[in-house]
Amino acid sequence: MQTPATTPLHIERNVNLRTMNAFALPALATTLVRVDSDAGLRRVIDHAELGRAPKLVLGGGSNIVFTRDPKCVVLKIEVMGRRLLQERADAWIVEAGAGENWHDVVAWTLQQGWPGLENLALIPGTVGAAPVQNIGAYGVELRERFESLDVVDLITGRSATLDVDACHFGYRDSVFKQSLAGKSVITRVRFRLPKPWQPVLGYLELERRMQETGNAQPDAQTVFDWVCAIRRAKLPDPALIGNVGSFFKNPIVSTEQCRDIIGRDPEIVHYLLPDGTVKLAAGWLIDACGWKGKSIGRAGVYEKQALVLVNRGGASGAEVLTLARAIQESVYGRFGIRLEPEPIIV
Ligand code: EPU
Repeated sequence: MQTPATTPLHIERNVNLRTMNAFALPALATTLVRVDSDAGLRRVIDHAELGRAPKLVLGGGSNIVFTRDPKCVVLKIEVMGRRLLQERADAWIVEAGAGENWHDVVAWTLQQGWPGLENLALIPGTVGAAPVQNIGAYGVELRERFESLDVVDLITGRSATLDVDACHFGYRDSVFKQSLAGKSVITRVRFRLPKPWQPVLGYLELERRMQETGNAQPDAQTVFDWVCAIRRAKLPDPALIGNVGSFFKNPIVSTEQCRDIIGRDPEIVHYLLPDGTVKLAAGWLIDACGWKGKSIGRAGVYEKQALVLVNRGGASGAEVLTLARAIQESVYGRFGIRLEPEPIIV
């Protein structure tokens, strides 16, 4: 597919990715291209050298763990822009470029008077990364606020729009981690912010805030402030301490399996899901195995939340993997549960 030669292609060579991933792990990209539009992406696809090379799509680097130098062309997605597309009787439809910072967009929607994303405040990363793992926090998942997104196919260069069904959202999962992994690039995301706005306050820590403040009817800005305070109190700021948020998914087990585990550990934190399965708190399992605050080399387990692995300064991806495997082994040894990493391991 031919595209106009107006968008310049910025090809960078031998780029250290340490400042481009939230874990601050060292990795060298032999070739990196910053992409700020669909047309720019098509120029990469049409390019004699880059077109056929395997590609790695990098957003804010908040959900990736580099354990080696990526042997492919790294595409840094920097598509910007935010706007209200439509105001309907039942919702505001808002669009943002994949390269926009997630938290900035959440804050901006609230400032504009379009609530709905407040429970997802302060999640590190970009707008384009949000649907990939169907980000979720404090009772809200992205898919509940999702309208559609635009992708560009990495082979044909064609643009397409995918709706919620086409994205196959699951718990920290989507088609972009499955059949479309490495095959297409998200360039824009549209959100559906339902009217009238209803706060989502079912999460234990939000209920606690309501009791503490005596405010039983918080507005969206207050929920936003509460979520920011809760996160700041127990999650490390990636700008200060390298980390990618939760390192493992919360495992989902059958009721029988759970009954067994509860029999042995009645304290275990678990949530019954609508389909009859049970979600266990991976942070609790890791904590129960004594990992909180521990380290292997320069990779450690965060002192205030055992589900978060951190870079204590100068850690390598190999050290993070060694720590992650040791945690997996001890949780398996004690509970018979295999923890699955949440971020993409390269
Ligand atoms: N817990 C412990 N010890 C720990 C950590 C947790 O006992 O070291 C217990 C807590 O006391 C609580 C339970 O485990 O009873 C769950 O912990 P928390 O409420 O902190 O939530 P989480 O299950 O660890 C999930 C998401 C987070 C999201 C929070 C809030 C996953 C993998 N993680 O964490 O998402 O912010 O709920 O909704 O689903 C992320 O994905 O990067 C992320 C931070």
